[in-house]
Amino acid sequence: MALSIFGASALAPVPASGADGIEINHLGINNTLVRVGDGGRYLMLPVQESNDDARINILVDGKIAETIYVRLAKSKTDYYVPFDLTPYKGKNIVLDVVTPQGRSSIREAKEDVCWRGFELTDTPDMTDRETKFRPAFHHTPMYGWMNDPNGMFYKDGVWHLYYQFNPYGSKWQNMTWGHSTSTDLVNWKHEPVAIRPDGLGSIFSGSSVVDHNNTAGFGKDAIIALYTSAGTSQMQSLASSTDNGQTFTPYPSNPIITLETEARDPNMFWNEKTGEWNLVLAHALEREMLFFTSPDLKTWTLQSSFGKGEGEQSGVWECPDLFPLKVDGTGETKWVLICNINPGGPFGGSAVQYFIGDWDGKTFTADKDATGKIPTKWLDYGKDNYALVSWSDAPEGRRTAIGWMSNWQYAAEVPTMQYRSANTLPREIGLFRAADGEIYVSNAPSPEVLALRNRLVADKSNISLGNIAKSFTLPEANGGLYEIIAEIDAAGCDSLKMVLSNKADNKVILTYNAAERKMYFDRTKSGIVDFSESFPVVTASPTFEDNGKITVRMFIDRSSIEMFGNDGRFVMTNLVFPEMPYSSLALSSFGGKAKVKNLKIYSLSTK
Ligand code: FRU
Repeated sequence: MALSIFGASALAPVPASGADGIEINHLGINNTLVRVGDGGRYLMLPVQESNDDARINILVDGKIAETIYVRLAKSKTDYYVPFDLTPYKGKNIVLDVVTPQGRSSIREAKEDVCWRGFELTDTPDMTDRETKFRPAFHHTPMYGWMNDPNGMFYKDGVWHLYYQFNPYGSKWQNMTWGHSTSTDLVNWKHEPVAIRPDGLGSIFSGSSVVDHNNTAGFGKDAIIALYTSAGTSQMQSLASSTDNGQTFTPYPSNPIITLETEARDPNMFWNEKTGEWNLVLAHALEREMLFFTSPDLKTWTLQSSFGKGEGEQSGVWECPDLFPLKVDGTGETKWVLICNINPGGPFGGSAVQYFIGDWDGKTFTADKDATGKIPTKWLDYGKDNYALVSWSDAPEGRRTAIGWMSNWQYAAEVPTMQYRSANTLPREIGLFRAADGEIYVSNAPSPEVLALRNRLVADKSNISLGNIAKSFTLPEANGGLYEIIAEIDAAGCDSLKMVLSNKADNKVILTYNAAERKMYFDRTKSGIVDFSESFPVVTASPTFEDNGKITVRMFIDRSSIEMFGNDGRFVMTNLVFPEMPYSSLALSSFGGKAKVKNLKIYSLSTK
């Protein structure tokens, strides 16, 4: 029998003592033993999201093999999550459960619906229950919670994406490295969890490299991952893989870096010039980055720090990245230091901050602006791009990056349940010098996304705009998957509006303000917005141009909108939860005429 992971079987009658193969022994008001016999490869755990976590020690032949935290159902089961018993086959498995809720009697404790809900199966039903909002061409976990992308590397034609993953619920907990692979950056295959918590703690963000020269001694081309072990404190650990990142073995001498203060998210790379490994570590609460060097990925020497008192300081600094790039149209190389911060983003919550400067293998020196200050810069002027980091070893010198398309302010409250959070589209990172003389980061969709184009549904030239809106039909099929490209000349008007709307009167309003040289993205009436006070907002981006000529390229994937202006020179990534797909695009201009030189609308699909 295929057991649904989504509620339905919660209604099925099961013996009070537990389902087949399950024996329940209540020991006290908050403590229950669940003995698991034969009957299936997976133990289905019943979850109620509004409950607090129960602590479950998985005892295997009497020893604690794992500890997991699950919001076990009290009054109703929202969904089930599968616990894979394969590693413990043939052994005695007992769950020692400590429930969170206050109890007055054991009778009360016995009434929790979870006790009747534990079930064994070989075939958990992984049917997608989130067809309305689950993006089609963005990566999502099949079920459970996801935050930061991390540890990404490219090898032999395969893009490996690892991510902060809770396999036992759709809120943050039990951090592991989930794993997905792709050969084209838009179709993703889910792989087994790659790194699981151990005695040092759960597995927080980090990075991976291909060790081409076997500097670490795990073999030529071994994959080496560095991550934060998050137990009572945070420390840095190493794991190696000799099967191209499918499975990792933690290094027996972990941790490899310890500090007396909180530090996390190690990001490393091979420095060709100095012939050694470099590493950036977020000194989170000090709001700075630490830099280390190593000959062998195991022994690291602290060299310097950057950031104290610089940039945005109102949140913790996390998830760094450091890489060189050529400034567009010049031979000049500059280094980009990515410092994700939370909170303190320009529109509240989390955001990607960066600094431009030089890196000599030991020290980062940030460029100053004309006033002599180190400027604060943002990579995305939407609310939903965080923890963006790049792939190591991307082909053809590409600097390809991806972000977590959500925000810590409401990521756990968005109206999905089987899974929570998607990644952004993969993006090619570049540098350009703007009219103000400053160097900025651009991030444009990776060329692979062109393959998503299905049908050209509109192709119009020379549309002149005025106060009366001109409307175009958007392809609603498939829950609303489309790309819009509008080549705008707004030199002759004060402002220009692009409105996406549907029959439920949900609206997303993009407004270009010529005097301010800014683009506004208003999602206050975009659909379901009331799950968090921090969700209904207007975000705004400088457009970095001085002539009103703007090409807007937008990707809409059911519950996300990514707006790329002028080849990614300004970007806004914002989630939306429309009650039905947006079906119309209306264009108008105010305070003068504007022209859309060309408008193209494509319907999109994956393979
Ligand atoms: C960023 C972050 C990281 C940490 C991870 C834990 O979103 O807080 O600093 O490693 O999430 O899941």
